[in-house]
Amino acid sequence: MQNYTANTQAPDMYLLAIESSCDDTGIAVLHNGNILANMVAGQAVHQAWGGVVPELASRAHEKNIVPTVDAALKQAGITVSQLSAIAFTAGPGLVGSLMVGVGFAKALALSLNIPLIQTDHLVAHVMSSLIGKPDFSFPYLCLLVSGGHTQIIRVDAPLKMEVLGSTNDDAAGEAFDKAAKMLGLPYPGGPLIDKYAKDGDSMRFPFPRPRAEKYDYSFSGLKTAYLQFISKQTPEFLAQNLPDICASIQHSIVDYLFIKLKLAASDTGIKTIAIAGGVAANTGLRNRLTQESKTNDWQVHIPAFEYCTDNAGMIAITAWYQFLQRDFAGQDAVAYARGG
Ligand code: KG4
Ligand code: ZN
Repeated sequence: MQNYTANTQAPDMYLLAIESSCDDTGIAVLHNGNILANMVAGQAVHQAWGGVVPELASRAHEKNIVPTVDAALKQAGITVSQLSAIAFTAGPGLVGSLMVGVGFAKALALSLNIPLIQTDHLVAHVMSSLIGKPDFSFPYLCLLVSGGHTQIIRVDAPLKMEVLGSTNDDAAGEAFDKAAKMLGLPYPGGPLIDKYAKDGDSMRFPFPRPRAEKYDYSFSGLKTAYLQFISKQTPEFLAQNLPDICASIQHSIVDYLFIKLKLAASDTGIKTIAIAGGVAANTGLRNRLTQESKTNDWQVHIPAFEYCTDNAGMIAITAWYQFLQRDFAGQDAVAYARGG
């Protein structure tokens, strides 16, 4: 185990970070590793469509980006001329949405003549564990659970990580959202399953734990199990038993996540565990991690809600470590949909 302490020789600097990979425009301001502002402009426009509509997302980013940057600078108490670097999410994500952030970041960096930093969205979710914790202990395992990804990642130092396992098909967030859709709940359904599950009996309806290699996951079988169960019930039964159904669905996802996470922890002997991504906001998952920390003698990091779902604070902290390594991007940087 080693404690990493941020480079104290680092220059005194303010950094602006932009996150526009999906349907939220996130803007953060960071001062020497500390987040001064972390703002998100959401996009209600997608709710009527049951999912994110890429073209509408790009247009909403165009509309939101300037006022959100203004608000974040104001909250941080600085002016644009005090910025020393601009960071942006390059991918993975919706290319049209990413391009709004990439274009804005390039133009601002060019006009201020300051460095640009290109950040990967998934690396940033994992790095969110380091927000407010410059002395975080390494190595740690991060369970990254979002709408697009489910991975167990070993982190050896800031920016130095290795994926130990991934989902073969759907992500944990998709399993929540698809189950919610089958129950007639609006998108994104994950937070609503969480809400109804609070009053429910999680043991009432048993669902399977799908098989997958070692630290990998597979959620498609669970989705089929939910569909088979829900399609057999009457609308009245579903309405009357919604809390028990949501609690049972949530338990099946959370328990499955922990089966593989515990296996990875015991095989690697790593006892520092973090969670990240939108599903890390789930109450069942957070409670289970606290409980498992006691049973397994784990040191755990449970992020604040604002750093679980997509946010620019995680982009800012990642970019700060990239800045210390002088990992800068050029004006030829491009957005990418997949991979890194
Ligand atoms: O990380 P994120 O904001 O975006 C991606 O990068 O995908 O994750 C969004 C996902 C959605 O599937 C959403 O339903 C899920 O996170 N989510 C939750 C909760 N809050 C967000 N799932 C379960 N319980 C929650 N409280
Ligand atoms: Zn995300």
